[in-house]
Amino acid sequence: MLSYSIRPMRKEDISQVAEIDHEAFPTMWPPANYERELRTPLAHYIVAHEGKPTTERTRVTVTKERDPASLVTRVQQLLHYKPTLNTEGPPPANKQYIVGFAGLWMMANEAHLTNIAVRWSHRQRGIGELLLISLIDLALELNAHILTLEVRASNISAKSLYYKYGLSVVNVRQGYYTNNKENALVMTREDITSAAFQEHLNQLKKAHADRWGIAIDHVTR
Ligand SMILES: CC(C)(COP(=O)(O)OP(=O)(O)OC[C@H]1O[C@@H](n2cnc3c(N)ncnc32)[C@H](O)[C@@H]1OP(=O)(O)O)[C@@H](O)C(=O)NCCC(=O)NCCS
Repeated sequence: MLSYSIRPMRKEDISQVAEIDHEAFPTMWPPANYERELRTPLAHYIVAHEGKPTTERTRVTVTKERDPASLVTRVQQLLHYKPTLNTEGPPPANKQYIVGFAGLWMMANEAHLTNIAVRWSHRQRGIGELLLISLIDLALELNAHILTLEVRASNISAKSLYYKYGLSVVNVRQGYYTNNKENALVMTREDITSAAFQEHLNQLKKAHADRWGIAIDHVTR
C-alpha cells in the first residue's frame, strides 16, 4: 500500500514539478519559474510525494489506495493519457517521487492560491484534496483571513473541489485565458478563521481521513 505525504517544495523538486505543471496546464507554456517562486518571500509551495513523511515539516499522510469505483476513471485517464516532457527517466533513488504540488501567495491577509495540480496517473485518490487542506492550514498559519483564486470556467474538477471547501464565485474575468479567451472565475472564501469555516474544515478533514486514511502530523512552515 502506497502512502503520500506533504512537505514544502525544494529546489530539487522543480524538474518533477515542471513535468506535472506541463501535464496539467499544457496551454500555459513556459511554466511558472519555480526557482524564482521559491526565492519569493510571499510565495509558499508544497509538494505531495510518495512515501512516508520525512522529518522535515510534514503535515499529512494518505495511506489508502483508490477505491474500485474509480477504476472507470483510471481507464479513462489511461485512454486520454498524453506523454509529458519527462525526458529524464525515473528520479534518482535519493529523490522522492512527486505526485502533486500546490502554492499560494500571501498578500496582506489574503492567501491567493496560485496553483494546484496532481499527476494525471494519480488523480482521484484524494491527493488534490490533501494538497488543498494543507494549503488552507498553511494559509491559516500565515494569518490569512481570505482565500482567493482564479479557475477556468470549464474546469469542472477544480471548481468542484473549491466548492466543496466553501469557496464561491465572486467575479468573472472575461477572456482571461489568452490561449482560448476562456473566462476565469474568481473564487473566494472569506472569514477562514471563523468558527463556522473551522467547523466545516474539520468535518471535511475527518471525512477525508476516514475515506483515504490520513494521519495529521503537525503543521509548520
Ligand atoms: C483539480 C485536481 C487538482 C484535483 O485533484 P485530485 O487528486 O484528482 O482530486 P481528489 O481525488 O482529491 O478529489 C477531491 C475533489 O475534487 C473534485 N474532483 C476531482 N476530480 C473530479 C472529477 N473528475 N469530476 C468532478 N469533480 C472532481 C471533487 O469535488 C472531489 O471530491 P469528491 O471525491 O468528494 O467528489 C486535478 O484534477 C488536477 O490536477 N487538475 C489539473 C490542474 C488544475 O486544473 N488545477 C486547478 C487550477 S485552478
